[in-house]
Amino acid sequence: MLRTLAFVHGVLFSPRTPPSVRMSSTGVDKKGVLADKVALITGSTQGIGFAIAQRLARDGAHVVVSSRKQENVDQAVALLKEEGLIAKGMVCHAGKAEDRDKLVTMVADQYGGVDFLICAAGVNPLVGSTLGASEQVWDKILDVNVKSPALLLAKLLPYMEKRGSSSVVLVSSVTGYVPVPKLGPYNISKTALLGLTKTLAVELAPKGIRVNCLVPGLIKTDFSHILHEDEAFKKDFKNLYGMQRTGQPEDCAGIVSFLCSPDASYITGENIIVAGFSPKL
Ligand SMILES: NC(=O)c1ccc[n+]([C@@H]2O[C@H](COP(=O)([O-])OP(=O)(O)OC[C@H]3O[C@@H](n4cnc5c(N)ncnc54)[C@H](OP(=O)(O)O)[C@@H]3O)[C@@H](O)[C@H]2O)c1
Repeated sequence: MLRTLAFVHGVLFSPRTPPSVRMSSTGVDKKGVLADKVALITGSTQGIGFAIAQRLARDGAHVVVSSRKQENVDQAVALLKEEGLIAKGMVCHAGKAEDRDKLVTMVADQYGGVDFLICAAGVNPLVGSTLGASEQVWDKILDVNVKSPALLLAKLLPYMEKRGSSSVVLVSSVTGYVPVPKLGPYNISKTALLGLTKTLAVELAPKGIRVNCLVPGLIKTDFSHILHEDEAFKKDFKNLYGMQRTGQPEDCAGIVSFLCSPDASYITGENIIVAGFSPKL
């Protein structure tokens, strides 16, 4: 019996045993769980999108990062390459049809297809009431936050459905469940994404494409600096959501890698909260 146990232990823990694919997330490993997969991430030159791109690349994927500004794209690609990761980048304002088309053409030409689409681009041009929002503000928020993931995915569909195990991850917010006062139309756009996830998951299941949604709480990024630097707001946030600490972009990345991986092959249509502790959602 002891010999059997020693044998099993030896097989499992011998240095010759190939490392677990999950261990690859700590460094470049071509045999990572996402090896040879192609991932396109919008809004990914900093913050949550960048952390996701970095994690997917560390797990073996070829990543394509994008955002509105060329210098940010160049910097993000350089950072990823410095780490030995496989990355390309292209300017894409998520709300502009011509930019989305160029991005789709680039990934089709370069890779022939896409396995994962992560839609992290999001905007909030207004701190104020819902009824005080101008039509311009409504259009901008809905164009970038809600319409662009659907319109980009529509263009990418022919390149995703032939890959066999494609995965889409949208990025909502806890404010989609429990609205933060003064973030009116933004809150509403993030609630819409929860519904978009469900609808797309149902529509795309027959094509073998899974659609899930990352729902971050308060994460320390430039986007949220007004909030996470405001102690009174943080106190309210803690009371409202039960938040234990401000999150870091990296807190959001592992779950996205998991949702893209074969371990999540039976998971679709889920909105998954990464917010510390959120008993009220
Ligand atoms: N931080 C939080 O607490 C929090 C909480 C819940 C949800 N979220 C959501 O998480 C997502 C990412 O936010 P973040 O906090 O990581 O923001 P961030 O650190 O400010 O990063 C935003 C990224 O998106 C790019 N970007 C901005 N507008 C874009 C557009 N119209 N088209 C394409 N790219 C654009 C920016 O680069 P360029 O300037 O070069 O375009 C940058 O790379 C957003 O959808 C946000 O709503 C954030």
